[in-house]
Amino acid sequence: MKIIHLSDVHLTGNGSDLFCGNPQQRFDACIAHVNSRHGDADLCVITGDLTHYGEEQAYIRFKACVEKLVMPTELLLGNHDNRHTFLKQFPDRSTSPGGFVQAVFSIGDHRIVLMDTNEPGTHAGHYCQQRLRWLENALIDGSGQPNLLFMHHHPMPVGVASMDRIGQQDGDALRALLARHSPSIRHMFFGHCHLPLSGSWRGIPFSSIKSLNHPLLPEYDEPTISIADTSPHYAVVFVSDESVVVHHEEFLFDGRRWDGIGTTVAAWSDQPASK
Ligand SMILES: [Fe+2]
Repeated sequence: MKIIHLSDVHLTGNGSDLFCGNPQQRFDACIAHVNSRHGDADLCVITGDLTHYGEEQAYIRFKACVEKLVMPTELLLGNHDNRHTFLKQFPDRSTSPGGFVQAVFSIGDHRIVLMDTNEPGTHAGHYCQQRLRWLENALIDGSGQPNLLFMHHHPMPVGVASMDRIGQQDGDALRALLARHSPSIRHMFFGHCHLPLSGSWRGIPFSSIKSLNHPLLPEYDEPTISIADTSPHYAVVFVSDESVVVHHEEFLFDGRRWDGIGTTVAAWSDQPASK
């Protein structure tokens, strides 16, 4: 199984620039790159902050972009999103009791679990009792199938002060639930940090990626974020019975390349599109 993981698009309603670049242009470039190189993917998941201000025009713009992806695509909410406005533009998206944008489904032997950690009025993540009940049932119903979890907020501290301050708040119950089900959770994917990071928590491997538009630097102790125009990427995830391998594709890179003996190779953009 091949999964594409994108995050933190931060699209603006009027198409304006934001920090490092133009979110619309970067999202368009990313989509073209994904379709060209990974049109055979089984799934694409965008883990939240679809828009920057959560306004209707931004979701209309987002919808026009995301519909260009050629593979099945799932959308999660981040702290910059607005659940009500999102669902007006995407009324067909699955929700759990309470109207949360959550879903669970199978691809092959694996269960894909999409979680909604958005809480109106705060940039921090929350996961209330209603959502906890849904997740517990989703994991129990899997009857031992391996689960791949996707969410916006990191459920545990990641050692970056500014991000941990707006990570999962009141997360003890969520972490206890995840720990109980850790044998059946193969990997957790999240966004929010705008950083490439990976590791494991209570035996559960996890990974995150940069924002498509404005990556951060890992300021470990500083209370404020540090946005830097480093090359954004998306993740290409290969899942087999034996492994979960996460690659990073720098979709804006279009410079020179060389093979192992020093021969110049064409830039990506000069290569014919794959299937
Ligand atoms: Fe973000």
